Amino acid sequence: MVIHLIAAARPNFMKIAPLYHALGKEAWAHPVIVHTGQHYDLNMSDVFFRDFGLPEPDIHLNVGSGTHAEQTGKVMIAYEKVIMKEKPDLVIVVGDVNSTAAATLAAVKLGVKVAHLEAGLRSFDRTMPEEINRLVTDAIADILWTPSPDGDENLLKEGVSKDKIHRVGNIMIDSLVMMKDRIESETLFESLNVSKGGFGLVTLHRPANVDHPENLKKICEILLNIAAKLPIVFPVHPRTLKNLEKTKQMDSLQAEPNIMLMEPLSYVRFMNLVFNSKFLLTDSGGVQEETTYLGIPCLTLRPNTERPVTITQGTNSLCTTDDVEMMADEIVSGKYKKGTVPELWDGQTAARIVKNIVAMFH
Ligand code: UD1
Repeated sequence: MVIHLIAAARPNFMKIAPLYHALGKEAWAHPVIVHTGQHYDLNMSDVFFRDFGLPEPDIHLNVGSGTHAEQTGKVMIAYEKVIMKEKPDLVIVVGDVNSTAAATLAAVKLGVKVAHLEAGLRSFDRTMPEEINRLVTDAIADILWTPSPDGDENLLKEGVSKDKIHRVGNIMIDSLVMMKDRIESETLFESLNVSKGGFGLVTLHRPANVDHPENLKKICEILLNIAAKLPIVFPVHPRTLKNLEKTKQMDSLQAEPNIMLMEPLSYVRFMNLVFNSKFLLTDSGGVQEETTYLGIPCLTLRPNTERPVTITQGTNSLCTTDDVEMMADEIVSGKYKKGTVPELWDGQTAARIVKNIVAMFH
């Protein structure tokens, strides 16, 4: 059974890895990695393949950056040709990036079965490109693998038939469990002059936060204020870097000795910092889940989240530029809430998916 795993952007690579390795152990499965090339930099793509012991992608579409329509269109055109030639039995798409929706559209129209891993998540905010990608993908995919009960409920409310929905758990936690020893033996944290639990870790890349000069300026002021109380480590995403440079904000961040700026990190190096941090300030999706699993406070600088269990059960809170400093103070003074780990966030999601494929196709 030929199974295409579609990988495109940084948050996808850690999701396909546990699945690729689990499928690789099955005699009936022939997993094939298709990299769309949406992310192409060494430290946005290649280092993740290395970290997770993934081989070079079997197929590379090399689409690169572009507007939403350009990126989506290029993936559809390139991937349609691949499907016609390779005739996969199943296409697995993950997450919510442009390539997720594009590959799904191309495959479904050629009658190839598509499974969406991380289905059913909804922010109910259609100004986010990811929300559009999630809606499109879930509306047309054949198999919907959800991470948590809210995913099932969202899909049922949208009229998706119950027999398409399978709750398998959170694949990001499989990646974390799989890499735990490597993360703990990584030395990046030790090489920085900070104590365990003595620094805040920042990641920001959402267009709503970093594409508007006014918002970005406000966020930089906040980082400078927090850095007056606690060191900040900030690996900077390419989109954010471009905007920080364009608006000259990079200079003020660089001038603050308590802010350590660095290039985007590999999975192992980033998670080594997460493990040792006091809290995260982020607008990422996956980081909200990883911190909930680890019990580390997470302040999410967004008006909504498609991952509500990280708030109701976990250590995540939404915040705004008006209250984030106050919330960081609460964390530092030990007043912040404690969380629990949601059900099926246990490192066994890839195994459940393999069983699910066997049940459906054999
Ligand atoms: C994309 C995803 C987002 C995900 C994020 C993780 C969509 C709509 N967005 O957003 O959901 O959370 O990836 O990083 O699919 N760039 C580089 N090198 C790279 C990749 C990008 O320099 O390897 C530059 C691009 O030229 C572009 C900017 O970074 O200017 C943004 O890249 P893009 O892939 O368009 O979107 P992301 O913001 O990364």
